Amino acid sequence: METSAAIQKVSMETSAAIEELRNEIQQLTLNLPREKNLDGTPLYQYQGFWTLSEFIPAIISFQRHFQAEDGDIILTSIPKSGTTWLKALAFTIANRTRFPLQNSPLLTTPPHQLVPFLELDLYWKNQSPNLEDNPKPRILATHLPYASLPNSILNSGCRIVYVARNPLDQFISRWKFLSSWQEQNMNLVSIEEAFEKTCNGVQFYGPVWEHVLGYWKASQENPEKVLFLKYEDMQENIISNIKNLANFLGCAFSQVEETQGVIKEISKICSFDDLKNLEVNKNGKYLLRFGNEAFFRKGTVGDWRNYLTSSMSDRMEKILEEKLCGSGLSFKK
Ligand code: A3P
Repeated sequence: METSAAIQKVSMETSAAIEELRNEIQQLTLNLPREKNLDGTPLYQYQGFWTLSEFIPAIISFQRHFQAEDGDIILTSIPKSGTTWLKALAFTIANRTRFPLQNSPLLTTPPHQLVPFLELDLYWKNQSPNLEDNPKPRILATHLPYASLPNSILNSGCRIVYVARNPLDQFISRWKFLSSWQEQNMNLVSIEEAFEKTCNGVQFYGPVWEHVLGYWKASQENPEKVLFLKYEDMQENIISNIKNLANFLGCAFSQVEETQGVIKEISKICSFDDLKNLEVNKNGKYLLRFGNEAFFRKGTVGDWRNYLTSSMSDRMEKILEEKLCGSGLSFKK
């Protein structure tokens, strides 16, 4: 077959496949439970978690086609739990022999660009992105719950790192994130209504207790495969968390590196203040939606106290007590 005819055939097949997937998804969303997100847009409950319809095709393609490799590092979280921080840390730790810290790509590129999301970015932009040529180790991210990860992630030798955060702070972070976008966002519900939805489990990628529990249990059952980090612990002792992360990723710090202060230096270039003050994180937009600066708000533990009443926090604590009961997982406030 002539090259141009072959290309035409492939592109017709591709458009047919896309059309087929579109129809499949239209049918699927008709039958999925539906709720409103905080800005009024519809959220669909797909495979037990809430998402926007625009991400369903990307989730399906990611689940069907992503081929994990043994050396891959997959960073996971429910949004607003410290994903950006984890991306900065994992990228810098894993690439520290490739890039001297003073020339780290982190200084010129936002963490979300260095470690892209699979379903929210790569498979959202392209049904079959070419990830073969990515530099090794490939460091990629997803917000999918553990139960929805593609089989190749579960079955290959790749490693998964999860970051969890106290759901009260995670709620406030999400609320403020969307509020900062309100100029374009029109109908954001009140904080009380947003909290009510969260307590009912209705939130992007939620319920939060199911998300954290899925990864918590996996990390307990298979600690070589899944590392479970907590935002509050990282705030309390970043040095030991960086060491722990490097050990888990198979690139422990040498004695020489320790004495030279490499761990401290990594903690500094990945710190909230350093990242927030970089020009590259003050400007530009992520996926044409959110300003890069929106990912660096306050970066503290316990900010929920400035926004939630004690009856609201008591309510969430009761829910968590019940949902996490017997798991051994708890959160510091
Ligand atoms: P706050 O809104 O409470 O400030 P995610 O990266 O999952 O979207 O989470 C965003 C939250 O992590 C925001 O919390 C943000 O400020 C905080 N954050 C971002 N970078 C950080 C860093 N280097 N250290 C600590 N917190 C950070």
